[in-house]
Amino acid sequence: MTDYRGKVYETGDLDYDSDPDRFRSSVAAVAKYGLMGDVHPEVAERMSRENLKLVLDVGCGEGRFSNAALAWGLSTIGLDQSDTMLAAVASPRIKGDAMRLPFRDGCFDGLVALWMLYNVATPTDTISEAFRVLRPGGLFVACAPSRFNDPELSEVLPSSSSGFDAENGVAQIEKIFRIVDVSRWDAPLIHLPDNKALAMYLRGRGLSEHEIERAREIIPLPITITKRGALMTARKVD
Ligand SMILES: C[S@@+](CC[C@H](N)C(=O)[O-])C[C@H]1O[C@@H](n2cnc3c(N)ncnc32)[C@H](O)[C@@H]1O
Repeated sequence: MTDYRGKVYETGDLDYDSDPDRFRSSVAAVAKYGLMGDVHPEVAERMSRENLKLVLDVGCGEGRFSNAALAWGLSTIGLDQSDTMLAAVASPRIKGDAMRLPFRDGCFDGLVALWMLYNVATPTDTISEAFRVLRPGGLFVACAPSRFNDPELSEVLPSSSSGFDAENGVAQIEKIFRIVDVSRWDAPLIHLPDNKALAMYLRGRGLSEHEIERAREIIPLPITITKRGALMTARKVD
């Protein structure tokens, strides 16, 4: 399996337990140098406006969606396979596999799979499970980067193709939910002013110290990075 960073993994060989600071560096760089917030509050607001009560956050990481959802009065359950990630989640949480959700049919009003389907060996298994555990009328939301993300850094980042991205994700959701709403972005959204910022950003993308040193020599600073990706929304109608 290859994830959106172009890194090849064996299933179950992700780095959220072995090197959680890689993921934290990615989150911190976007929070510090991003020119816009991440999708979590926007998705929580949408679910709250629809009056959805109970939302399953699949691949919840350290609970960014659950934290945003709390502010909107939603109840969430976070599910993740990483003990390290789950340890930081304050709301109800469960260890589990996104491809075999440990819940009965139709018990959630909403389900989010944010920035995680590219980590899953067979994303369609997770999407089918999402369909199963949602009640009729329930809302599914996923997001993923584009394979054409970060073009300004293409010389230093591995070429990225994954089993679920902004280009191939919609068709996979359509197969199961039939109709998908897509909101795409393609804009200069990260500004890296100096070497420290570049190093933090590239560490988050999985580059080694050595690769970051090399990048420092060839990437002109300051630099503004184009972010491309998609938020995909589908409703369970049966
Ligand atoms: C990039 S992080 C995103 C975390 C969170 N959704 C967010 O937006 O901050 C991906 C998360 O998915 C989890 N994950 C990957 N594959 C999984 C699977 N098969 N089952 C459960 N969790 C999984 C990882 O452990 C990690 O916490």
